[in-house]
Amino acid sequence: MPRPSSRISGIVPSGKDGWEVHSAAWARKAAGEDIIMLSVGDHDFDTPSQTIEACVTAVRGSNHHYTPLSGLPRLRKAMAAASSACTGVETTSDQVIATPGGQAALYAAVQAVLDQGDHAIVVAPYYATYPNTFSAAGASFTVVETPAEDGFQPRAEMIRAALRPNTRAILINTPNNPTGAVYSRERLEQLAEICREHDLWLLSDEVYWTLGGGEHVSPRSLPGMAERTLVINSMSKSHGMTGWRMGWLTGPEAMITLLTNLNLVTTYGLPAFISIACAEALENRYGVKDIAERYAARRTVFLDAVRGMNDVTVRGSEGGMYVMLDIGDIEPDDEKFAFAFLDKENVGVMPGSSFGEAAAGHIRISLCQPEPMLQEAALRLRRFASSYRREAA
Ligand SMILES: Cc1ncc(COP(=O)(O)O)c(C=O)c1O
Repeated sequence: MPRPSSRISGIVPSGKDGWEVHSAAWARKAAGEDIIMLSVGDHDFDTPSQTIEACVTAVRGSNHHYTPLSGLPRLRKAMAAASSACTGVETTSDQVIATPGGQAALYAAVQAVLDQGDHAIVVAPYYATYPNTFSAAGASFTVVETPAEDGFQPRAEMIRAALRPNTRAILINTPNNPTGAVYSRERLEQLAEICREHDLWLLSDEVYWTLGGGEHVSPRSLPGMAERTLVINSMSKSHGMTGWRMGWLTGPEAMITLLTNLNLVTTYGLPAFISIACAEALENRYGVKDIAERYAARRTVFLDAVRGMNDVTVRGSEGGMYVMLDIGDIEPDDEKFAFAFLDKENVGVMPGSSFGEAAAGHIRISLCQPEPMLQEAALRLRRFASSYRREAA
């Protein structure tokens, strides 16, 4: 074939992608082995039945045609109301654009604020697609770690030290994947100050906002920030709709108007019947409370089961769908630990270093399994940790 563009080749540079343990666990499960999969962030339950019914009614009701580029008016209105609740800033339909999932909202946000050669700061540990999303825009980025001993909270002085003359944006995620950290108001205020001082955009990924521990603080609500914040939202986690591919971006109206042109050349609008089902799900908060309660209960059960385990320390783990365990005192090489845990106990977890250096020496546990399964996994972890120490001694 003729040479592919360097743009497309550069999105995912070849080599290790951090998913090796997950892939090995998946292959063994697919071959029929009884593996407890705690490595993925997808619900183990279906979309709420009311949302499914809304979609069936919509597809039977002749909603088979093109939709407006920025989203159906009813959908944008429902998204704006959800953004008002999420960010604490009264939001109008003109300030939101519907995208096919939160990832597409992230892509849109990065395309919207960075030119080729511009620089961004990515706060780590981060969701695995972040670096590639910047590569797709031809932008460079610096990863700024959040120290594990600080509960993975961002530190303003470390971010300041990474600023360059061509820095245009900072990307954060709270509640965080993979750490489950929920950034405090104080730390967000410090980040906001940097953005105002240096005239930066803040890209704020808030897809886990309904699964937080305690109050969700959006940096968009801080003084002077609504005009320079783009918030990434999604139906995937809050409404149990990962496979429906629906998300949205919230920002200043002028930026949303510009972003409509991106949809002109990419999606050309979203499916009508899915848009209607999503609008209904947002209007009625289908499943939101149940899903939040389910993950809160799972988090409590799992944390109770691992608390007191020798040499295993819980970090972050306040919200979202994940728990982060520091296993560095047992085995500093988290990938080696995760592979050995899979081999010996048939449990698949993610090595923390897949998400950046700050999470090295940790493993990420996904809470996307029923409580008894999580309890069983904790039991196996306890057994594995003590035998690993004995064998090492
Ligand atoms: C932090 C974070 N942002 C964005 C996404 C993208 O989600 P989706 O494209 O399903 O909305 C995910 C998915 O796991 C995530 O963890």
